[in-house]
Amino acid sequence: MATLQWIPELDTGIPEIDKQHRRICDYINLLDQIRRTHDRQKLGEVIEEMVDYTVSHFSFEETLMEDAGYLLAGPHKRVHELVTRRVGEFKTRYEAGEDVTEELHNMLSRWLFNHIRNEDHGYMDTVTTYLRMTASAQHAKIEAASQAVSQPKRGWIARLFGAR
Ligand SMILES: [Fe+2]
Repeated sequence: MATLQWIPELDTGIPEIDKQHRRICDYINLLDQIRRTHDRQKLGEVIEEMVDYTVSHFSFEETLMEDAGYLLAGPHKRVHELVTRRVGEFKTRYEAGEDVTEELHNMLSRWLFNHIRNEDHGYMDTVTTYLRMTASAQHAKIEAASQAVSQPKRGWIARLFGAR
């Protein structure tokens, strides 16, 4: 299977999510390289890092979906649990001495883009709207705070600087 190439249509438009997805894509391509070298130690390191990273990405995504009130957050979470379990099984097999690189690489490279196109793109609108709403709330708070700073109450500082 060829190297995974990120294409713009995979972007969700949510910068943090897109950055994480691209990094998972990089891990899968790293697996592809190791597959050719059969470097067992390196494979162990990549599996370890990739599993950690992917699990934390899943929980980031799940929190975002839940905070945004996305209706399919539950089923989406179950897909993540299933994949986490499958990857965990590969990790166990690797630890038992099996060469799982090829199989793991094939599974993940088929899974990632499908998952992004189907399940992840499903929450895109809800989460984007949620982020826009909370971002403007944050912005308003900062704006109010900065106005308070730039418009001192008439007091000794204002008099000192000649404010009327
Ligand atoms: Fe997802």
